[in-house]
Amino acid sequence: MRGKFITLEGIDGAGKSTHLDWLAQFLARRGIKVKVTREPGGTALGEKLRELMLHGNVRLHPETEALLMFAARREHLEKVIVPALENGAWVLCDRFTDATYAYQSGGSGVAWDKIAVLEQWVQHELQPDLTVLFDVSPEVGRQRGKRGKTADRFEREEKAYFRRVRQAYLRRAKEYPDRVHVIDANSSVSTVQKRLEDIFTSYCSITS
Ligand code: TMP
Repeated sequence: MRGKFITLEGIDGAGKSTHLDWLAQFLARRGIKVKVTREPGGTALGEKLRELMLHGNVRLHPETEALLMFAARREHLEKVIVPALENGAWVLCDRFTDATYAYQSGGSGVAWDKIAVLEQWVQHELQPDLTVLFDVSPEVGRQRGKRGKTADRFEREEKAYFRRVRQAYLRRAKEYPDRVHVIDANSSVSTVQKRLEDIFTSYCSITS
């Protein structure tokens, strides 16, 4: 049986990574085969492009960034995501196309429709089966993001940028209410985990 394609989204500092580890263990305990991956990244090319876009010292045009995100995504789908799904694994992907709408369109101003063209070109009908959007205010995101590491190119953006990114994410959630589950991630890790557990307990019972 084909696996499920799950994506996790949110502005920087929303706490995705902590919850992704928890979710992978939650699913594995239920006997589900899990493949954890991320964007940009997940393949040799994707990781190189990640390094270039997040830590390179050349500031790219936002449309160039969008094109590179989709180039990495094309490779990721071909080499990792689709084979894992066909192999029956549940793919947990740390960010996917909603992030390109949010960051390159919402944040950096690339036309929404141009992202839609690339999405159709690269993905055809393939969409995540379920997306969790960890929704935090830019203020909380910034506070959490600061802990313990050097900020990458996106994390260095202004608060207004993250306000626009957040709004674009919420627009996607509104457009796809059945797929995108929004969790208020301003609250404690345990409260967020409880919501996540409810969502996935119910999703696993529907799909098994
Ligand atoms: P993260 O995976 O550590 O959260 O960082 C990835 C960064 O890349 C994050 O700031 C969002 C950004 N990004 C985009 O701008 N567009 C995209 O399509 C994706 C997948 C990520």
